[in-house]
Amino acid sequence: MPRVAATGCPLTRWSARFATVWQRVAGAAHLRRPGGGDTDSALARVAAWRARPAPEGFPYDEVIAALRHTGKHFAPRELLASLAAARAGLPRHTTPAVRRLDRFLATALDKRDERYDNPSYLALDGLELPAGASPEAAARRDRLVALLIADALRFELLAEAGEAKAPQPEMRPQGRIIEKRCRHGLLVLAPVLARSGTSIAAHADDPIAAARDAVDAVLGGMTADERLMLQLTLLPVSRIHDECLFIRVLQSYEATFAYAAVELAAAAAALGGSDAGTAVAALDGAARVLGESSPLFSLIGTMQPQAFLAFRQYTDGASAIQSRSYKRMESTCRKPDRERIDSSAYLSVPEVRAAVLAGAPTIDAALQAAALPAEQAHAVRDAMDRFASALLRWRRTHHGVAGRMLGERRGTGDTEGSAYLANGMTIPVFAAPRCPLRGGARFAAD
Ligand code: HEM
Repeated sequence: MPRVAATGCPLTRWSARFATVWQRVAGAAHLRRPGGGDTDSALARVAAWRARPAPEGFPYDEVIAALRHTGKHFAPRELLASLAAARAGLPRHTTPAVRRLDRFLATALDKRDERYDNPSYLALDGLELPAGASPEAAARRDRLVALLIADALRFELLAEAGEAKAPQPEMRPQGRIIEKRCRHGLLVLAPVLARSGTSIAAHADDPIAAARDAVDAVLGGMTADERLMLQLTLLPVSRIHDECLFIRVLQSYEATFAYAAVELAAAAAALGGSDAGTAVAALDGAARVLGESSPLFSLIGTMQPQAFLAFRQYTDGASAIQSRSYKRMESTCRKPDRERIDSSAYLSVPEVRAAVLAGAPTIDAALQAAALPAEQAHAVRDAMDRFASALLRWRRTHHGVAGRMLGERRGTGDTEGSAYLANGMTIPVFAAPRCPLRGGARFAAD
């Protein structure tokens, strides 16, 4: 998710501007391809809607078809102007339907408004990420991951079936890659669905057929709201097939981080009340989902590097360094060092940075303040070890996948890329030193 480094050189700035204009011209060419009527149809439907603007009746289907036909980066100006006019005319009273439309328009217009970033790229506001108390957050995370990954597989299966009208038709992968994606996707889905009582063939001989069954099992039973949520949260910037997989995997991880952050906050609160049992269970809940999500990296590892490099040209400004959930998760373990708080790692997430500086509770501090009997303190430290290992494994795998896709290029968060991630692997998850007499896992990367 890297971006071209900002530069003071006027020639480079001019070339970048020329490239953007050229991309728009090239993008406009898509409109003249067969099926370019998507824009006309969306414009007509939005105009009709604006005459009687009932939020429930907004023509989502037509607008999304038009945006996906070109990719959001190339959306025709007149379409964006009509969406901006629709937003200006939204009723003042807020109902769920108004809020949903408002969120959708914010996502659709992020580039036009020049506030495009990772949360808007991933339409995080439209996902209803896990929050609140642990059991509800766990259920929300499972449901979201099931829907997002089933939807990603559905899209792959359309390509496998040679569905000519499926959107994002460029640089479609070959059947062998789709088969791999089905295998990894099934591994992500298996534990999630097992918890809701559905078993699927995660290690099937025919992963395509097994994926089809799993997709039917998940998407066949979804509500109308869930269907709309899936539709509104996939607005790729390009026409490149693999970008859809990229978005769905990142969203699934966001759901996982958000849930893990809920559990870690619960662990810190439990330690504040000297409740070691609850703290251990919460830490283990967070470690379990991180570990269980590792096939998501195998899934994204099937992305074709040339496809990734092609669509990342248009994701400039959106980097997961802006992930609030990841930084919440990290900073609930311990207060980050001052140098990191003042670096782009936390300057990119101002709300989380402010909470850290205001003294948000951490597991480290809560454990040190808690007067736990030795046995309970050991049990908590063991659970902290397990979470730390899961997070360090995540950082290592992320570094490996990013390096393979990116090489030595800079990140879209304007870091140096691979070197930034390598440094991240050396940052201890917890600071509280483990008793030297007990040995065992260390909290920092080896
Ligand atoms: C093609 C795959 C990926 C590449 C090339 C990649 C690249 C990068 C790079 C270069 C950074 C450093 C910040 C920047 O300059 O942008 C970064 C940060 C980050 N990425 Fe990824 N990434 C990939 C996949 C993922 C996935 C699937 C996730 C899951 C949500 C993710 C989550 C993060 C997070 C949370 C950070 C911030 C880490 C920190 O600040 O310590 N990335 N990524």
